[in-house]
Amino acid sequence: MIKVGIITASDKGSQGKREDKSAPAIKEMLKQIGAQVVEYVIIPDEQEQIENTLKSMSDDLKLDLILTTGGTGMSLRDVTPEATLKVVDRLVPGIPEAMRAKSLEITNRAMLSRAAAGIRKQTLIINLPGSPKAVAECLDVILPALEHGIEILRGEGGECAR
Ligand code: MTE
Repeated sequence: MIKVGIITASDKGSQGKREDKSAPAIKEMLKQIGAQVVEYVIIPDEQEQIENTLKSMSDDLKLDLILTTGGTGMSLRDVTPEATLKVVDRLVPGIPEAMRAKSLEITNRAMLSRAAAGIRKQTLIINLPGSPKAVAECLDVILPALEHGIEILRGEGGECAR
C-alpha cells in the first residue's frame, strides 16, 4: 500500500474562499494504483509553511508520496517549487519533464507551470499545477510509472526490464 499526503497550496482555499476541487480529483485518480491518502491539508502560499508541511509528512509520517497542487505558476505568491527544492535531497527531473511534455500537447500554457519533483529520504514529492483539469492531465501521465518508482525508493524494487 502506497501512503500518500496531499498538500493544496492556495491562499483563497486556505481562507475558505475557494472550494478545493483538486485534492478530491487526486484522491479519485489514486484509486487506480491502490494508494491510500493518509493526510490532506490546505495551506496558504507561504514558502516556510509549505516546507514545514513537506518535512513533517516525510520525516514524521514517513509517507511514500506527497502530491502538492497549486502554486507552481508565475504569480509572486507561487512558491511551491521553491519550498520543494529546499527540502528535497535529490531531484527527479523526468517527472515534471514528462508532465510538461504531454501537457503541451493539450495546452501551450503547460509551459507556465514550474512544477518540480524530488526525493526527501524515502518520500517522493511531486508538484502538480492547481486546476483540477491540470491535475488529472498530469496524473494521467505519471501514475503508470509511480508504483515502480516508489518500490525502488523503498528498496523493494524488482525487475526494471519489461
Ligand atoms: N498543465 C496541464 N496539463 N493542463 C493545464 O490546463 N494549466 C497551466 C499550467 N499547467 C495547465 C497545465 C497554467 S494555465 C498555469 S498558470 C500553470 O500550470 C500553473 O498553475 P498553478 O499556478 O495553478 O500551479
